[in-house]
Amino acid sequence: MNKNYYITTPIYYPSAKPHMGHAYSSIIADFFARFKKIDGYNVYFLTGTDEHGLKIQRSAEKLNKDPKSFCDEISKTFEDLTKTLNLSNTDFIRTTEERHKISVQNLWNILEKNKQIYLSKYSGWYSVSDEAFYNEDEVEEKEGSKVSRSSGSVVEWVEEESFFFKLSEWEGPLLDFYEKNKNFILPESRRNEVISFVKGGLKDLSVSRKTFSWGVKVPSDDDHVVYVWLDALTNYLSSLKYPDENNKLYKNFWPADLHIIGKDILRFHAVYWPAFLLAAKIKPPKRVYGHGWILSGDEKMSKSKGNILDPLEIINTYGLDPLRYYLLKEVSFGNDGNISEEKLENCINSDLANNFGNLCQRVLSFAEKNCSSMIPDHNFMEEDLIILNSITDTDKIRTLIDNQDINQYMNLIVDKLFASNKYFNDQEPWKKKDDTLRLNTIVYTALELIRKITILLYPVMPQTSVKILNIFNIKENLIDFSTIKNNEILEKEIKINKLDILFKKIDK
Ligand code: ME8
Ligand code: MG
Repeated sequence: MNKNYYITTPIYYPSAKPHMGHAYSSIIADFFARFKKIDGYNVYFLTGTDEHGLKIQRSAEKLNKDPKSFCDEISKTFEDLTKTLNLSNTDFIRTTEERHKISVQNLWNILEKNKQIYLSKYSGWYSVSDEAFYNEDEVEEKEGSKVSRSSGSVVEWVEEESFFFKLSEWEGPLLDFYEKNKNFILPESRRNEVISFVKGGLKDLSVSRKTFSWGVKVPSDDDHVVYVWLDALTNYLSSLKYPDENNKLYKNFWPADLHIIGKDILRFHAVYWPAFLLAAKIKPPKRVYGHGWILSGDEKMSKSKGNILDPLEIINTYGLDPLRYYLLKEVSFGNDGNISEEKLENCINSDLANNFGNLCQRVLSFAEKNCSSMIPDHNFMEEDLIILNSITDTDKIRTLIDNQDINQYMNLIVDKLFASNKYFNDQEPWKKKDDTLRLNTIVYTALELIRKITILLYPVMPQTSVKILNIFNIKENLIDFSTIKNNEILEKEIKINKLDILFKKIDK
């Protein structure tokens, strides 16, 4: 069985500081990476920054900076954010690195050798903000300027010599590929969108620009730079040391298991990317998941709209794990969602302080008073086994993860938290003081429930989960998802370590 897992985030444009939307994609990817890790996989988790193109060149010019030092500065804020978000990424790639340029030029050479690229002239609409070419029917007039219908960003007319990729030849093979790999694009609604776009006919794609120079040079003609999307998408290969196809990273981890992206960049990942790869005779990735947008009011949060929420401020006020929990649970995965301080506070109070925090605190303080903070002995009755056995189906949970069904995964956790609190209430261990074994068994069961649920919560709230599992001396590198199958992991007479208050209720 292949126990390698390769997951990526988009590489973000360092044209401005990161905002909550970027944090969202990265946290989602980290969630999957951490789940796979505790399920025994070797995980390769890649993120980074996308530093070429006109968008970056112009952003640097506005500040009178050269593009490289401009990128150095802002890329650093994205790299810092990986630490602030406690991401478990293996690599952070920057497209201005030499290792990446080699990879892009190599891919270009193969495409050229395979007669997939030709020189011609491009005339049409281009959005610098999206770094995308648009057809006439994809733009509209708004307040005196031409804008893209899909993103609303301003487009400009471009006429220049350009290399083209024979995308039109890949219409049939792509449709075949989607047919054979039914879940290549998720969620399903987006898959349908992509299929109808491809069925609508593909035109050859301009893949070089000549009127500016901030990019990777086309190897055979250095008047041209490689179109920033062909450059950027290749990052997923260059981190694995492509074109050295015999090295271990490439062999173990390509094709990627999962590209996490926002729906704004679905066409690049679900149409252009597999087409480039098929044309170069490289296997396409296994899955592209296009999630929804974090909204601000009812608009997409974006730097160009100036309506952004700074993840650092939220984390400073509320802590990282509550933010991660909120984004994973309250934003329905696949759909657009909202975040506001008020909603976050409600979520902290109801789910984290009242439900999860309360379960841990009451069980532990009861164990302290009645079991001298030792793991007690046990003799399960049916009601104990019913609830414990409701959190043993590892295969069902693995399927949720492999379908990227974060919503059901989070529902399961919340459900089990409620059920565990209810179990402790209903069993009334405080009334069992003259039946020590029964009292002990209830405490033991509750501790096992905490252990199991905390393991499930590890990918969501790693720091908090590590703190809780530490009460049982389970260290981070020993967290093992498959142990939720077992109801008797905790060993009698071992000391239960102290736990500080996990979540403070917010006064409102
Ligand atoms: O597109 N809600 O970079 P980018 C949710 N460099 N996610 C959001 C978001 C929002 N409001 N705003 C941004 C690029 N994102 C290219 C990618 S990949 C080879 C190259 C997230 O800085 C989401 O994942 O514009 C989106 O797709 C990505 O950031 C776009 O980041
Ligand atoms: Mg963008």
